[in-house]
Amino acid sequence: MLNIVLFGPPGSGKGTQAEKLIEKYKLVHISTGDLLRSEVAEQTSLGMAAKKIMDAGELVSDEIVIGMIKKKVEEHKEGPGFIFDGFPRTVEQARELRKVLTDYDERVTMLISLQVPREELLARLLKRGKEMGRSDDNEQTINNRIDVYERQTVPVTYYYEKMHKHIPVNGLGTVEEIFKRIVKEIEGFEKFHQPS
Ligand code: AP5
Repeated sequence: MLNIVLFGPPGSGKGTQAEKLIEKYKLVHISTGDLLRSEVAEQTSLGMAAKKIMDAGELVSDEIVIGMIKKKVEEHKEGPGFIFDGFPRTVEQARELRKVLTDYDERVTMLISLQVPREELLARLLKRGKEMGRSDDNEQTINNRIDVYERQTVPVTYYYEKMHKHIPVNGLGTVEEIFKRIVKEIEGFEKFHQPS
């Protein structure tokens, strides 16, 4: 299996690049943000509780998102692999992901970390807020989402760094340029790690 964590701050292009990677590698896409938004749209009790937290730009509890991940991994355990988008977002989530994958004799192949400066993140998300009306794409919430990322999510990179799996990628440029950079990293990594 090829199991990629697509990582980066809000607006760094995780969802955009995930779509292209799925097409190329036929992986199963697991986005905890999308899963939570569908709970909100269906007005489940989980969705109603999550909406308040998401609109404030804070993180939903580890317990809730880990439960969602376990279910999805179980459903697709025979597949070619996963793209985890927006997960793990805390070191606790990273540890749990490791346990879940180990149960299927699998592991995270690599963490691709998109590097984009705050001013560009703000510009992208404010634009999307105007065009699409996502409720957390307003200036105050965007800034808090980025602060939360820096405080609670960046430590996840140190966790994967220790395993030599953290791959920073420049997230500035056209969608196609960034995609090529990611593919180059995946193919270089796979070649290097192929069993002889
Ligand atoms: P989530 O849905 O994961 O949102 P996010 O991390 O804030 O990411 P975004 O979807 O805003 O951005 P992205 O990096 O995917 O970029 P995208 O491709 O969309 O999480 C939302 C909330 O859910 C969290 O705040 C939290 O409350 C909760 N949550 C989710 N997962 C959780 C977890 N694991 N634990 C706890 N809570 C969790 O692009 C953004 C925009 O930029 C788009 O308009 C796009 O068209 C544009 N764009 C993309 N690439 C480029 C480019 N190269 N140049 C110009 N524009 C570009």
